[in-house]
Amino acid sequence: MNVEEMKKAVAKEALNLIEDEMVIGLGTGSTTAYFIRYLGKLIMDGELEEVYGVPTSYQARLLALEAGVPVVSLDEVDAIDIAVDGADEVDPQMNLIKGRGGALTMEKIIEYRAGMFVVLVDETKLVEWLGQKMPVPIEVIPVAWRAIAEEIEVFNATAELRMAEKKDGPVVTDNGNFILDAKFHRIDDPLDLEIELNNIPGVVENGIFADIADLVLVGTKDGVKRMER
Ligand code: A5P
Repeated sequence: MNVEEMKKAVAKEALNLIEDEMVIGLGTGSTTAYFIRYLGKLIMDGELEEVYGVPTSYQARLLALEAGVPVVSLDEVDAIDIAVDGADEVDPQMNLIKGRGGALTMEKIIEYRAGMFVVLVDETKLVEWLGQKMPVPIEVIPVAWRAIAEEIEVFNATAELRMAEKKDGPVVTDNGNFILDAKFHRIDDPLDLEIELNNIPGVVENGIFADIADLVLVGTKDGVKRMER
């Protein structure tokens, strides 16, 4: 299996967890995009009924509408049964780095609230420790970006303002904020760093998702493997 086939395999596997009448948090990114499309097909074929998606981003919302998944917003639902999303890194304790797509804040709000949070990754996302390959995205209030970048240096890290590719200037998130990508040498205590970063005034949310995933489905060359608590 190549990486795209691994992504498709975990997305299909996650469908086995979906039942009629569920409210589902819809993650952002290329792996979850497969899940949303497959979910839409089951709904359109009448194999799932009364299922609603709560999108974590404009990307997820547009995909869901296109695929035929009815969408509702977070403030319209009493509870979220399950959330399904990708990740940029997964450590052996199932701590995550997320936010390459800039949707980390809504992702964390929805995934924290979900009864079960399922992560879909291919095996290239597995790391020995967080920060091994990827920076930690941090969503910040725009005017505070430089002040926060300086504060982050205290953690022996460097932070760069994420620049847009099809727009001049910085990336602006779905919430109207900027993203700093903070490169740490090695994150030994993800939960502690997650809390410390969020304590910096002007930080909206950061991309460390410690101790929140219930199940990780990993696409490998030999099929789908499970990491669970
Ligand atoms: C979006 O902000 C991210 O958290 C994505 O969920 C994460 O980057 C995984 O995306 P891929 O499935 O495209 O790798």
